[in-house]
Amino acid sequence: MCYAIPGKILELRDNIAVVDYFGEHRNVLNDFTDVQIGDYIYAQGGILVQKIPKQDAILILKEWEERFFQLKKLDLKISRIKEEVGIEDNKFIKIIEKTREGISLKRDEVLRLLKTNDKKELNLLFKTANKLRQKHLKNSCCVHGIIEFSNHCRNDCLYCGIRKSNKKLKRYRMDVDEIVKVASFAVNRLGFKALVLQSGEDFWYTTEKLIEMIKKIKEKCGVLLFMSIGERSFDCYKRMYEAGARGVLFRFETSNPRLYKKLHRGPKLKFQNRIKLLRYMSKLGYIIATGSLIGLPGQTEEDLMNDILLTKSLNAEMYSFGPLIPHSETPLANASLENINTVLKVLAVSRLIDPKAKILVTTALETLDKENGRKLGLLSGANSLMINVTPTKYKNLYSIYPNKAGNEREIEDDIEKTLNLLYSLGRAPTDLGI
Ligand code: 5AD
Repeated sequence: MCYAIPGKILELRDNIAVVDYFGEHRNVLNDFTDVQIGDYIYAQGGILVQKIPKQDAILILKEWEERFFQLKKLDLKISRIKEEVGIEDNKFIKIIEKTREGISLKRDEVLRLLKTNDKKELNLLFKTANKLRQKHLKNSCCVHGIIEFSNHCRNDCLYCGIRKSNKKLKRYRMDVDEIVKVASFAVNRLGFKALVLQSGEDFWYTTEKLIEMIKKIKEKCGVLLFMSIGERSFDCYKRMYEAGARGVLFRFETSNPRLYKKLHRGPKLKFQNRIKLLRYMSKLGYIIATGSLIGLPGQTEEDLMNDILLTKSLNAEMYSFGPLIPHSETPLANASLENINTVLKVLAVSRLIDPKAKILVTTALETLDKENGRKLGLLSGANSLMINVTPTKYKNLYSIYPNKAGNEREIEDDIEKTLNLLYSLGRAPTDLGI
């Protein structure tokens, strides 16, 4: 199984390697001291993560070559936009045209896009986002694995099923060696090149334990590691970076400080602390994946616009926006379920505002529409996915929200289903660098 296409190093300059993929050249960051021109490598998120023996690379590339160009052709065909007919508001078309020409939108224009519920306008918005994705990033789609290693949490966020006050939930925690084993299986047996390690805010994992975990995984696996463990000290994030973690998945949840305050109960949960921490992580060099929840009670379209703009201003490389799925054991049990079009609008507008970003189809979006959520997301500007590689015995206990998509499937089935979907849309499960 392969989630990245091998590339050949053409040039090495300082910490940059220029890599060839079937004639396309990409720059990737290189921390390895033992790579040379002519070596074959895997890169993820613009970072070199693994060297591959030449014979293996040549075999894999042979398998890929025909498919690579076929997929590109199919993607180009699907992302073509036909003449838009029947849209009455000329202003809407003008806004869309501006984004095609790369002109920045004003706030009232962004709002106009987020507020539409007209079928034809929505169609044009989603198609434009898909076209921009194709134009700027071609057909590559990152497929990250996620390991949910503990459902203990010290916080009491009003929306979250693993909140401290949920006494009905059976808690679990994987020890460091078990996490390393699962990560190693995901990378060395299943072929993942990027993994997210996620948990509640669980301080049983001290900074030392986290560092041990990261170092052991990096020793055994050529992988891009994202941490998704909530608020920790600046020092902890610095040391995790030094140990080899290179990404963080850390949402600010909402850019509206009033809403933030209402929803978050925890020892130190303050909106400004979170933003400061995100800015610090970016300064350290982490790849930032962040975003918000869509459909929070009291949230407006203006809030969603500010969420998108804040994500951009945080230099996020990956946008993570997903719907709130009400959980029966939380104070938001009776919140109404968001319409899928609202989520798709946020993804599409994110693409229009930040054409080169990675935009995630979250598992929550997949849960909102199990049949079509992933596909609709990928056709509305998104270009990244996650596959849950948490061991089956823990999966259902990590219930941040109910009926999580994918939990009913075995990992191998999920991988196969994902690949089939990507191929049917002309997408290649790979990440071709910066
Ligand atoms: N529905 C959807 N997403 C949720 N999260 C927490 N609770 C819910 C819910 N009920 C999200 C938060 C967090 C991520 C790990 O899970 O946004 O950042």
